[in-house]
Amino acid sequence: MKRMTRVALITSGGDCQGLNAAIRGVGKALFQRLDNVEIFGMYDGYRGLIECDYKYMEPKDFSGILTEGGTILGTSRQRYIPGRDIVDEEGNSLIPAMLDTYNRLNLDCLVIMGGNGTQKSAKLIADAGMNVVTLPKTIDNDIWGTDTTFGFQSAVDIATNVIDYIHSTASSHGRIFVVELMGRDAGWLTLNAGIASGADAILIPEIPYDLGKVAEMVEQRKKKGRSFSIVACAEGAVSCTEKVLDEESRRRAREEKRFPAVSYAIAAELEAITGQETRVTVPGHYQRGGPPCPYDRVLATQFGTAAAELIINRQYNRMVAIQAGEIVSIPLEDAASRTKFLPVDHPMIKVARDMGICLGD
Ligand code: F6P
Repeated sequence: MKRMTRVALITSGGDCQGLNAAIRGVGKALFQRLDNVEIFGMYDGYRGLIECDYKYMEPKDFSGILTEGGTILGTSRQRYIPGRDIVDEEGNSLIPAMLDTYNRLNLDCLVIMGGNGTQKSAKLIADAGMNVVTLPKTIDNDIWGTDTTFGFQSAVDIATNVIDYIHSTASSHGRIFVVELMGRDAGWLTLNAGIASGADAILIPEIPYDLGKVAEMVEQRKKKGRSFSIVACAEGAVSCTEKVLDEESRRRAREEKRFPAVSYAIAAELEAITGQETRVTVPGHYQRGGPPCPYDRVLATQFGTAAAELIINRQYNRMVAIQAGEIVSIPLEDAASRTKFLPVDHPMIKVARDMGICLGD
């Protein structure tokens, strides 16, 4: 009798497109490759591991989910103390409860699918003695060590579509539109969607903006007979004046202005400088919803099968990644050690500049 392999699947943090495709990739490949395997789907991210709340997954559970958005297992966010612990509201460590479930189910490995925060907590879980393989998922594309995360391309598609649609109404009314996109403190999503949709200005966290420059661009366009302008701004975009403030002072300065989001502050200021009617569109979580695009379906499937390969070879505490088109794996501690911001000398920034797109600097 071949040795039994026991694996638990966890989807953690904010959801994104492609999670079910990745779950399916891991599950199908493990059942395909191993004679004796048991797979447990932990409910609601780390909560399921903490509370030993799971579903025993059979081969049929991995069918029919490729195109489904969200995650069939549910997800949640945990309180993470940087580099130290995962805790409850009272500050008690939750790692012993996780270890207890791990031992109770006699697991060989946890497959953890998550973003930046999840990779960091997965590292703590590995440090506590549990075997871990992680997959990089997020619409933000900000995980260190992988060129792309699944979810990102689907979000770029949606964000592009939003700006495409805004174009016609902006043009009819001769308005400025500020479209605020997600991405947390990284500009990958906004830069890509902005280029794909022909935005006139793209404001990203990595390049502090001066709205005087954006207003100049608007005026230039008017002179050329273009009565409208589209500004794609990242939710984490910061102005040159805000950039020099520490995080707390920046938060207070924003609170004083009482705008619900950065796009509203940008729109108000742009309208004041240019005198042109300005509107805001914030697609928000819409960018994370719905079915994964074909690219993400393929990537998540590749990542899932690569995770199965790592488990079969007992190569643990690694994150699956894609680098220069190849599926690889890197040590989890590297992936968890830093955030992948958009380098200001990235070729795509040059593409934007060469296209005459205003980056606010
Ligand atoms: O990390 C993914 C993301 O969608 C970010 O782009 C965004 O800032 C954040 O999550 C929103 O988090 P929540 O789902 O908790 O509102």
